[in-house]
Amino acid sequence: MSKEILLLSGPNLDQLGSRSPEIYGSQTLEEHVARFSEQAKILGFSVVHLQSNFEGDLIEAIHAARESAQAIVINAGALTHTSWALADALAMFGGVKVEIHLSNPAAREPYRHVSTLAGVVDGSIAGFGATSYDLALDAVARLSI
Ligand code: DQA
Repeated sequence: MSKEILLLSGPNLDQLGSRSPEIYGSQTLEEHVARFSEQAKILGFSVVHLQSNFEGDLIEAIHAARESAQAIVINAGALTHTSWALADALAMFGGVKVEIHLSNPAAREPYRHVSTLAGVVDGSIAGFGATSYDLALDAVARLSI
């Protein structure tokens, strides 16, 4: 049986492709997810993806993942900078947790410099565009051995 990764995408990431391509690139979320899923399959993981613009949906998916998933990879969008509720939910998940960002929030506006999630994940990958997803998968695979 393959191990499951829950891939979470927060608010506004459904707009990738047309949303500020100079910052986030021109690939759509579907393209990122397809590539991530294909690569994950090669490494023996299945991927369940959820994108939501609603914080509660993401929190409930994390709760459910405690029964089904071995790892969570999360790009929480702007909730990264505001959501203690998402951080509390992630803290309850016992598997591997990786925070990712396409852009490098630390090099952007001051309000993006804080991550409520950083303290409850195994590590964070930011600033590598589409490659952030590849690096997150690599981290999950290495930490899952
Ligand atoms: C983002 C960075 C966040 O600051 C922003 O609000 C996003 C996308 C990224 O992937 O670079 O929505 O998480």
